[in-house]
Amino acid sequence: MTHVEIPPGLTELLQGYTVEVLRNHPEDLVDFAVDYFTRLRENRRLGEDGDKDEGRGDEEDEQFEPPVINRYNRRVSVCAESFNPDEEDDTEPKVIHPKSDEQRSRLQEACKDILLFKNLDQEQLSEVLDAMFERIVVSEEHVIDQGDDGDNFYVIERGKYDILVTKENQSFRVGQYDNRGSFGELALMYNTPRAATIIAITEGSLWGLDRITFRRIILKNNAKKRKMFESFIESVPLLKSLEVSERMKIVDVIGEKNYKDGEQIIAQGDKAESFYIVESGEVKILIKSKTNKDAEDEVEIARCQKGQYFGELALVTNKPRAASAYAVGDVKCLVMDVQAFERLLGPCMDIMKRNISNYEEQLVKMFGSSVDLSDPGN
Ligand code: CMP
Ligand code: CMP
Repeated sequence: MTHVEIPPGLTELLQGYTVEVLRNHPEDLVDFAVDYFTRLRENRRLGEDGDKDEGRGDEEDEQFEPPVINRYNRRVSVCAESFNPDEEDDTEPKVIHPKSDEQRSRLQEACKDILLFKNLDQEQLSEVLDAMFERIVVSEEHVIDQGDDGDNFYVIERGKYDILVTKENQSFRVGQYDNRGSFGELALMYNTPRAATIIAITEGSLWGLDRITFRRIILKNNAKKRKMFESFIESVPLLKSLEVSERMKIVDVIGEKNYKDGEQIIAQGDKAESFYIVESGEVKILIKSKTNKDAEDEVEIARCQKGQYFGELALVTNKPRAASAYAVGDVKCLVMDVQAFERLLGPCMDIMKRNISNYEEQLVKMFGSSVDLSDPGN
């Protein structure tokens, strides 16, 4: 058999191109390749010219983000796995971490609300669950350090974790996970260094998913999600001011949830963890009247139709839910977690804040006096 030597970097080069094809679904693969590799070369020139700015150009990146050359180079050592999303690579042995029944049921419970897993089919989900492994952490343990290469994605079973981001040598606490949620997807999805540091502030338990399985299943599924949601996301008025690439990042992290007629989506007074966009159907917003705080005495204050959003207020004000939301008929919503909301929807904040002041006016009209939306019992 002839010995074929694969030049260093070839796998990563083709992998980067493949990922962008899946993210953008270009009509013409050759044109797209010319464009992609030309930008890659321009980026490399910039890198060689000593421009270490890892930010993205305004219009240039609308279609895709070719890897920045200095990041790209540093990934070579850890990015040796092959990735062929069109043909699942069955020659790669599947990763299986055997689990007891008790472990498996804890794992299923921890994963049931993980948005990245929402659109997986049954087979993909069981492959993911088979590959996950338990990791016990102690208080103050750094689970992830900003700037490191990505190894695993984590789902939280229990424990509290601080999220710290260092910018210009200053470290800021940008959020916290409280016994639920997941983290560590960004470095694996986009082949970038870890974007934040995650520190356990209590003893805790996590379920890890290795990089190779994550990329094989979640990236493949993200390509499917892009096909399903791209045109809908493009049509959402709130998101119009975002760049195309920013909207695509939203598609990558959203999950789709279904609700039956009358089902409660949000409960007034609850702690908020998610933001919602109505994909189909109708959602009614009810608030407990001031005179009687019984659940029965809720007053309808708004309806949200396809393309409209709700559940932003508590995330913006950092307060409990100001009202309840119920499905009217069957409803599908796209759901984003609070960390993605804060990371990706900053540019839409002005629009949301303007609408929030409308809520207050509307409530004053309805209830006839000033209403403090930060008081969940209002
Ligand atoms: P990753 O970059 O792989 O590793 C750090 C993780 O922190 C990141 O993925 C996200 O899952 C999570 N994270 C939560 N909030 C933020 C934030 N504001 N910026 C960056 N990462 C965040
Ligand atoms: P949040 O408080 O997170 O959860 C209830 C949601 O109802 C709220 O965010 C808004 O998105 C939505 N809503 C719509 N109209 C109003 C209103 N007049 N007052 C408060 N919330 C409203």
